[in-house]
Amino acid sequence: MSFFRCHIKFAMTGFMWFFWLSVSCITSGAQAQGGGSWQLVVKNAGIASMHTAVTHFGTVILLDRTDIGPSQINLPNGTCRDDPSDLTSTHDCTAHSVLFTLGPNTIRPLSIATDTWCSSGQFFPDGTLVQTGGDFDGNSKVRYFTPCVRGGNCDWVEATDQQLQQGRWYATNQILPDGRQIIVGGRFVYNVEFIPANGQGTTELPFLHQTDDFQHDNYYPFVHLIPDGNLFIFANRDSILYNYITNAVVRQFDTIPGEPRNYPSAGSSVLLPLTSADGFSSAQVLVCGGAQLGAFANFPGAFAVASQTCGRIDVLTPNSTWAMETMPMPRTMGDMVLLPSGDVLIINGAQNGCSGWGNAKNAALNPVLYQPDAVVGQRFTTLTPTTIARVYHSTANLLPDARVLVAGSNTHQFYTFDGDFPTELRVEAFSPPYLNPASAGDKPRLFNPLTAVRYNTQFRLQVSVQNPPQSNMQVNMVSAPFVTHSFSQGQRLMELTVVSQQFNATTNLYMISAIAPPNAVVAPPGYYMFFVLNKGLPSGAAWIKVSN
Ligand SMILES: *[C@@H]1O[C@H](CO)[C@@H](O)[C@H](O)[C@H]1NC(C)=O
Ligand SMILES: *[C@@H]1O[C@H](CO)[C@@H](O)[C@H](O)[C@H]1NC(C)=O
Ligand SMILES: *[C@@H]1O[C@H](CO)[C@@H](O)[C@H](O)[C@H]1NC(C)=O
Repeated sequence: MSFFRCHIKFAMTGFMWFFWLSVSCITSGAQAQGGGSWQLVVKNAGIASMHTAVTHFGTVILLDRTDIGPSQINLPNGTCRDDPSDLTSTHDCTAHSVLFTLGPNTIRPLSIATDTWCSSGQFFPDGTLVQTGGDFDGNSKVRYFTPCVRGGNCDWVEATDQQLQQGRWYATNQILPDGRQIIVGGRFVYNVEFIPANGQGTTELPFLHQTDDFQHDNYYPFVHLIPDGNLFIFANRDSILYNYITNAVVRQFDTIPGEPRNYPSAGSSVLLPLTSADGFSSAQVLVCGGAQLGAFANFPGAFAVASQTCGRIDVLTPNSTWAMETMPMPRTMGDMVLLPSGDVLIINGAQNGCSGWGNAKNAALNPVLYQPDAVVGQRFTTLTPTTIARVYHSTANLLPDARVLVAGSNTHQFYTFDGDFPTELRVEAFSPPYLNPASAGDKPRLFNPLTAVRYNTQFRLQVSVQNPPQSNMQVNMVSAPFVTHSFSQGQRLMELTVVSQQFNATTNLYMISAIAPPNAVVAPPGYYMFFVLNKGLPSGAAWIKVSN
C-alpha cells in the first residue's frame, strides 16, 4: 500500500525530484503518514555542523569546533592554523566552519581561530552574527561573521579588543529590544552578561544555581523574550519570568511534570507564534522531550527511553500551569523549528538515551508536526522519515524557501566514520507537507522590492497566485536563530495584521498591505524572513530589516 502511494507521489512531482523521492519511498514508505519529503542537498559539507545559522543573504553558516582533529575540507588557499593550545592538532590545515549557499548548494571553507565547542550566538540588528564563548582557548572569545553577497569573501573575525567577562560554554544568547544581547548561564556559570556590555558587569542569577542537579541538567537554558518585556528562562524542569533590567524574578512557574528538559537531557522549546489577533498580548511556551533523570550520569546505562511529553504554558496568564501532551514517539536531542505556517516541526534526535558521545540509540527518524491551534489530541502528525540519523550535535534551521535544513550529528569525540552513528557530513533539507507540489497552484510567489520596515507602519508585499486565493492572505515574519544542542537561540514568529488585499490587473499581482510589529519588545530589531501564506501554504521569504 505504501509502495503504491510512493508511485503516485513520483508521478505528481516530476523529473527533478525523482531521485530523492524514490530513495525516501524505498526506505521509508511504510511509515509515512503525514507527508513531507527529504532532499539531500550536500553530499559532503566537510564538517559536521554543531551550530548553524541562516544569514539574511540566504547563505548558511555551519560551525563545528576547532579541536576535533582534521575535518574533510581544507582551509582556503592552503592556509593553516597554528594553535599550541589545541587539544588535537596544533598545526591544522582543515576548516571547522563552512558557508553553505542555497541554490547552487556550494560549500566554502571559513577560518576560525579559537575553540567554538558548545558556544552560543545570535544575530545583531545589522545582520552580523555574534558568536560567543566555547571551550579551552575559545572560552571567553567573541567572534563576528558579517555576511556578504553570494560569491563574496566574508569570513569570521575574532574580536581582539573585546572578550566575555565570564568564560562560557553551553550558554544561551537572546537579542533584546535595545539591540544588545543577553548571555545567560553556561557550564557552572550562574550569572548573565550583556554584549556589548556598555560598562555593565555580570549579574548573578541564583535560579541557574538552583536548577543544577547531579548531572547538570541546566546547560543551554531555554530563553524567550516575552512581549511584556521580561525573559522566560527555563532550566532543568523549572522556569521563571525574569526582569533583566531590575534583576528581579517576577514570577516562578510550576515545575514541569516529567523528565529534565535541558542539556544533557536535551529536550527543546519554542515560544509559540505571537499574534496581532490579540495585540501580541499573550505568549505561550512549548517544551518537548528530554531524557530520564540519570540517563546521562549513569551512562553507560540502559539507554533509558526518552521523554514522550510536551508541556505548554500560558506565560502571561496569572496562575497558569503546564498543560501536558503526549508526542507520537519519545525524543531526546530533538530540535523544534517554527515553520512559516505557525506550526512547530519537531525533528532530529533519538528515542533512547541522552546527549553525549555514544549515549543514545534508536534515532527518531520521523519529524513530527505540532499544530498549536488544533484541538488537544489532534495536534501531532507524524511525517515522512529520513534515512539519516541526526543525534548528538545536529541542527535544524528554517530556510527562506520554507524548507528546513538539517545538518550535523556526531556522537564521537573526533570524526569517526564507523559504528552505529558515523560522523555525519551530509546536509539534507526537509520539505514540510505545505511544499507538496500538488498544491503549487495555491502557493503564493513573492515579488518584493521591500528591504526595510519600521515598527507599527503599514507596508506592502506583492504576490502572484495561480488559483484564486483566499480573501485575505496572511503575513508571518520569522527570525533566523542560532541553532545548537536542540535549542534555537532567538527563534520567534509574529503573525501580522493584514489590512487589505488588492488585485492589480496590470501586474497580475496581489498587493497585500500589512502592519509591521508594534515595537522592539514584540520583535527585536533585525532581519526577518517575511512569508505570505495562502490557504496555509507559504511563499518564499523576503528578508526585511525591522527597526525603529
Ligand atoms: C584565495 O586566493 C584567491 C586568489 O588569489 C583570492 O581571490 C581569495 O581572496 C583568497 N581567499 C582567501 C580567503 O584568502
Ligand atoms: C492565583 O492564586 C492565588 C493563590 O492561590 C490566589 O490568591 C489568586 O486569587 C489567584 N489569581 C487568579 C487570577 O486566579
Ligand atoms: C498596478 O500596477 C501598475 C504597474 O506597476 C501601477 O502603475 C498601478 O498604479 C497599479 N495599480 C494600483 C491600483 O495600485
